[in-house]
Amino acid sequence: MCGIVGGVTNQDITPLLLDGLKRLEYRGYDSSGLVVLSKKNSLNRARSVGKVKNLEKNLKARQNKIKGNIGIAHTRWATHGEPANHNSHPHISNQVVSVVHNGIIENYLELKDSQIKQGYKFTSDTDTEVIAHAIAFSMKSSNTFLKSVQKAINTFDGSYGLGIVSPKYPNIIIATRKGSPLVIGVGKEGNYIASDQMALLSVTKKFIFLEDGDVAELKLKKITIYDKDGNKVERPIIISKIKEGQVDLGDYKHFMQKEIFEQPQSIRDTLESRITKETVVVSAFGGKANDIFKKIKQIQIVACGTSYNAGLVAKYWLEDIAKIPCNVEVASEYRYRHPLILNDTLFVTISQSGETADTLEALKIAKKINNKIYTLCICNSAESSITRESNLTFLTHAGPEIGVASTKAFTTQLVALALLTCSIGVINQTISKQNEKAIVNGLKLLPSLINETLLQESQIKKLAVRFKDKNSALFLGRGTMYAIAMEGALKLKEISYIHAEAYPAGELKHGPIALIDENMPVIAIAPNDELLDKLKSNLQEVKSRGSQMIVFEDKDSQVKSMKAMEVIQITSNLGRITAPIIFTIPLQLLSYHVALIKRTDVDKPRNLAKSVTVE
Ligand code: G6P
Repeated sequence: MCGIVGGVTNQDITPLLLDGLKRLEYRGYDSSGLVVLSKKNSLNRARSVGKVKNLEKNLKARQNKIKGNIGIAHTRWATHGEPANHNSHPHISNQVVSVVHNGIIENYLELKDSQIKQGYKFTSDTDTEVIAHAIAFSMKSSNTFLKSVQKAINTFDGSYGLGIVSPKYPNIIIATRKGSPLVIGVGKEGNYIASDQMALLSVTKKFIFLEDGDVAELKLKKITIYDKDGNKVERPIIISKIKEGQVDLGDYKHFMQKEIFEQPQSIRDTLESRITKETVVVSAFGGKANDIFKKIKQIQIVACGTSYNAGLVAKYWLEDIAKIPCNVEVASEYRYRHPLILNDTLFVTISQSGETADTLEALKIAKKINNKIYTLCICNSAESSITRESNLTFLTHAGPEIGVASTKAFTTQLVALALLTCSIGVINQTISKQNEKAIVNGLKLLPSLINETLLQESQIKKLAVRFKDKNSALFLGRGTMYAIAMEGALKLKEISYIHAEAYPAGELKHGPIALIDENMPVIAIAPNDELLDKLKSNLQEVKSRGSQMIVFEDKDSQVKSMKAMEVIQITSNLGRITAPIIFTIPLQLLSYHVALIKRTDVDKPRNLAKSVTVE
């Protein structure tokens, strides 16, 4: 996700822009840049590929320092056009206007064609450059900066958060958003904009959150906001509760609890700019993704812990939906077993931290075994060792995950893998336009479905009491729900120290059914899918052996509530992609509440580390 920061102050703006960019780094970037309006009213720009510190070095090395009171800056995560200086923001049109952009302009090719005819020269491969030219063009016929922007944005389809400056209007920044986040910071020494309030915490705690379609005019001492119809509006000033520089607990008791409840937002952030109204944005996996996805014949996924469980879900999706063969393996085994790796393999690593030693080593070894393979990592940490080792990177935008037991990283990894499935299917024509649209719509529903599921917390809390004196638990599922059962069992083990095992429900009769008695709680996941009837028979087998059962079901699954069988209805009409993500939530809540009862150290469970960087 791209990051934006900008401001109009009575001080030199450049240090503030750099500080803001650094605070946005965790969101992912491949280049950064800034534009400052100089005292002589010219647009002074600096751009660098890589970390923000490269931009800092670039600025320090200049003889003519970039200084001024008004400026905009950007960290870019490439979607249209490779990571390179010429594609980095801010973009400039004919020295009359400069723009930073977060989002995707879907009709940019159409706009580009007509702007070329109007004589505009393009210097980048981005969709953003059309914004700069469109505003420059409308400035010719509008008598204010604001009107020029209002006119231009009417021609854009897609999503945008924009910061705009012009030497013609040297005291003004225009900010506008539609579908992408943008906040205004109200400060003592000036007024600011950013894509995330984190970027501005050093200068203000007062924020105005723009609504879709709003256009704001920021001056040193005045902010004026207009709604999508051009009416002047007042938006409330909110005092941020975020403590500067620190991810804090807010009103939560534990980071794990907070991170469970953050999932609707982290999924929204992960989807931002990665889907359009009806399609997936394949280039979200990197500029070369399109070409690579065309060439691959099979997929090998390698990961550890929770990230491995995400890979297991993806295997079902990739083979069933995208029709591409897929293997999944834990990295600690893979790295030592001298695997055969065919050419045309997409080697996918999944890692929250991007630093897990086994996963990193498995990746390096795979590249040594066959240097023709393509590599993709799905990672929550922008500048990590694993991202550096991979051809393609998809950053989950879960934000910093502090709790050792992974929650929001897992569900955002699933979102990433769903997008991967859809992208490969679309490119290889194994997924129809209609199916793509259905998947995209399902993904968009996730935040509200998760919020609905989180409402079950009090019911789940009551069930947690049953685990107080238990030493073991069994999790059952079929299909993708087997992988979700594995994740549920892992969560319970990690934070409540109860031995838990997951089994595919159909395999129960081949051994584990011998374990079942009244002391063995069984947790089953029962979505309304093609395996439901088979699962119901498996549940009967368990129940008749006297187990205390908890069943999480779709409202339409109709697993009858029987004695010693607690059935909790989660939600209804879930699809193959949304169901595993939604059914993860009650299992996270269950393990959290069991851990509370057992009074364990929820966020830092014994013997575990957030990121295992040693073997
Ligand atoms: C550790 C953590 C797990 C995590 C695993 C993989 O074991 O305790 O929660 O799933 O590492 O971490 P990664 O950062 O590679 O996803």
